[in-house]
Amino acid sequence: MNATLETMWNRRSVRKYRSDPIPEEHLNLILEAARRAPTGSNRQNWRLIVVTDPDIRKRTAKACNGQMWMADAPVILCMVVLPGESKVNGTIVLDHAILAATSLGYGTCWIGAYDRTQVKQELGIPADHDTVCLTPVGLPAEQPAARRRKEPQELFSRDRFDAPLDYTP
Ligand SMILES: Cc1cc2nc3c(=O)[nH]c(=O)nc-3n(C[C@H](O)[C@H](O)[C@H](O)COP(=O)(O)O)c2cc1C
Repeated sequence: MNATLETMWNRRSVRKYRSDPIPEEHLNLILEAARRAPTGSNRQNWRLIVVTDPDIRKRTAKACNGQMWMADAPVILCMVVLPGESKVNGTIVLDHAILAATSLGYGTCWIGAYDRTQVKQELGIPADHDTVCLTPVGLPAEQPAARRRKEPQELFSRDRFDAPLDYTP
């Protein structure tokens, strides 16, 4: 197993955080991983808001359907795409940041349950921009077990949709 695969295997949704700050060099590596992510035609039509202000973190967590544990993490990332841009690009970029954070020992959790209007208001996001997802980033205060995944035959096909592709995980 190489380091990249180990990072992917080890990532979990972390919903309990320590408040220790993230050293700037680590945060910058996470942001640089995002900056290096691919986008369609290399458009890079995204903006990542790095929320560190404790009060804004709390208000952001409240806007995320009251998932207040998010605000315990020292950083919340909010991915925004520019007008007309596909959310797919923003999702890929945020995943790069999440995997970089995982590789540095930080917990993250994709947050897709939020009030769009409220998040946009709290973070001053222009009306014509669209939010994608958010994630807290911080040292984990829990070690969640891996959640069950579907068996390969439920997820993969060979050559055609209805032809099985099976392997032993
Ligand atoms: C697009 C997306 C949105 C999600 N939104 C939330 C959320 O709002 N709150 C939450 O606690 N978890 C959220 N999750 C986390 C999923 O519940 C989690 O990824 C899934 O249960 C698998 O667990 P794992 O991430 O630990 O492997 C979201 C995940 C994705 C990919």
